[in-house]
Amino acid sequence: MKFLVTGAAGFIGYHVSERLLDAGHQVIGIDNLNDYYDVSLKQARLERLAPHRSFHFEKMDIADRSAIAALFSHHKFARVIHLAAQAGVRYSIDNPHAYADANLVGHLNILEGCRHSKVEHLLYASSSSVYGLNRKLPFSTDDSVDHPVSLYAATKKANELMSHTYSHLYGLPTTGLRFFTVYGPWGRPDMALFKFTRAIIEGKSIDVYNHGQMRRDFTYIGDIAEAIVRLQDVIPQPDANWTVEQGSPATSSAPYRVYNIGNSSPVSLMEYITALEQALGCEAVKNMLPMQPGDVLETSADTQALFEVIGYKPATDVRQGVQRFVDWYKDFYRVD
Ligand SMILES: NC(=O)c1ccc[n+]([C@@H]2O[C@H](COP(=O)([O-])OP(=O)(O)OC[C@H]3O[C@@H](n4cnc5c(N)ncnc54)[C@H](O)[C@@H]3O)[C@@H](O)[C@H]2O)c1
Repeated sequence: MKFLVTGAAGFIGYHVSERLLDAGHQVIGIDNLNDYYDVSLKQARLERLAPHRSFHFEKMDIADRSAIAALFSHHKFARVIHLAAQAGVRYSIDNPHAYADANLVGHLNILEGCRHSKVEHLLYASSSSVYGLNRKLPFSTDDSVDHPVSLYAATKKANELMSHTYSHLYGLPTTGLRFFTVYGPWGRPDMALFKFTRAIIEGKSIDVYNHGQMRRDFTYIGDIAEAIVRLQDVIPQPDANWTVEQGSPATSSAPYRVYNIGNSSPVSLMEYITALEQALGCEAVKNMLPMQPGDVLETSADTQALFEVIGYKPATDVRQGVQRFVDWYKDFYRVD
């Protein structure tokens, strides 16, 4: 099948593209290769995809309306896996407009492309951050997500709402993927594991927010890619019996679904750091700091609905996943 993967040079997009290519699919990858983090890491990921004969890359901005319309008119995509976005909670405090451009205008352009070319299934990245002020754990897709605490989270929630309208109005099957803190090889330099690893190797201290009193459902990248590859074949169907009063917010009378994709076994930040210290064989100097604006205390995914449709849920142990990240990091950056 012919897939469009947006954000193909990104952390998750690279891994998903590789899985799809290995499974024999054709992948058109797009990415604007912006400098939110080290562009050479994005290029290195693309270099790993380039040898696949069924992979084709185009540098493109999803906020560029005419470029995206032209892309969809040139290709007939069976599936679209939309992962390009301005990511990061903390960056959205100082750079709100980057989120409006990539996550709102960009998402609309992808929806329009899918609508006009009759794509069979659009899967798009949402985020555990949509749960915002929700304190009921684990987070369920049946819970309210009306109180985000960062603009990033608000744009992800907006993506779900925009997708619902396209599912309702045009019958476009859409699946929203609420990822929970993803980590692993080829990970993002702006995320804790990468920053901690680099600092520890360079003999610098690490910044530990909220004095380590945070818990996260850390989810291994291989598990995320596996779940996406399985879900792309689970095309949402309209549920004629669904009503707002009685149905789940994660389903609809339209062909619309939302799933949590998380490990469903939250780990404290200090345990995560201990796993990293063990993998590196060296102790971190910890700089204990207060809570950051926009952060949440705990995330934990209820993945029952995911398991019911794909017979799979993320389960890689954090010690194993962190070790794999460290092995990759040392190899990639040639650290002894
Ligand atoms: N990694 C996580 O823990 C996590 C958690 C929840 C949600 N997500 C979401 O998953 C998706 C993928 O995240 P990731 O961790 O791979 O991030 P990433 O930053 O590594 O990948 C996103 C890619 O999109 C590209 N991009 C950004 N704006 C673009 C634009 N306007 N046009 C074209 N390309 C653009 C970037 O260059 C980047 O390569 C994002 O939507 C993110 O918000 C990630």
